[in-house]
Amino acid sequence: MINQNSYSPIGVFDSGYGGLTVLKELTKQLPQYDFVYLGDNARAPYGNRSFETVYEYTLQCVKQLFDMGCEIIILACNTASAKALRTIQQKDLPNIDTHKRVLGVIRPTTEVIGNYTKTGHVGVFATNGTVTSESYIIEIQKFFPQLQVFQEACPMWVPLIENHEISGVGTDYFVQKHIQQLFAQSRHIDTIILACTHYPLLLPVIEKYLPANVDVLTQGHIVAHSFQEYLSRHTDMESRISKSSHVTFYTTDSTEMFDKQATLFFGNEIKSNHLAL
Ligand code: DGL
Repeated sequence: MINQNSYSPIGVFDSGYGGLTVLKELTKQLPQYDFVYLGDNARAPYGNRSFETVYEYTLQCVKQLFDMGCEIIILACNTASAKALRTIQQKDLPNIDTHKRVLGVIRPTTEVIGNYTKTGHVGVFATNGTVTSESYIIEIQKFFPQLQVFQEACPMWVPLIENHEISGVGTDYFVQKHIQQLFAQSRHIDTIILACTHYPLLLPVIEKYLPANVDVLTQGHIVAHSFQEYLSRHTDMESRISKSSHVTFYTTDSTEMFDKQATLFFGNEIKSNHLAL
């Protein structure tokens, strides 16, 4: 039973199903906390949308999660982290509530990437929005200036996932195509970041076509580990999060569809709620 008076879950947001790959690791590493997941499936994908639209949609979802009792929200979406996070942190949060926090997924990933590569050539698969923001190049440069970063936008991957085409032949075609285009930029890439939280769902297909010596990094465990450390540094925030191990799901689209897909990605049986925006 959730005690509504003290209910203050960790909010996890994504445009659709992708953030479930992060939520899965968060609940594994931090099982004591309450979580609420919001997937904006009705308006996914965000990847090709303008800065203004991604910002507007993300802010709307952030406000919804705050209204549900969240004190802290993780944007488990690279596109939203690249295009909306900074404005929300700097412009909106001071007007909403100075004690609440919104975090992203790009910084935790770029902070550790240098520990993985040996050749110093890193590949980034991401949405158009994330690639054109150059957030990965800029952030990696801050922590590991010696690394060379090669980006490849894969605009078809999220629509294929959101439209339940993971095992379709079209997916194989588009995965192979982008792998070839990434390696055409550098043959020395030994580490690839799946810089879109949807992409781990394509991992078996991606691994089928990648050279064997290349490591593929998914973000879920990295983000969860970094968030655990964040909470140990911010004990005041940690004490405000409720701890009854409840995970609640909201989608802006059909709950039947969400439950079917989300159960596949998340592992457990899911009963989501509909949220009209
Ligand atoms: N999962 C989002 C990301 O990490 C999805 C992007 C989209 O909706 O296109 O970028």
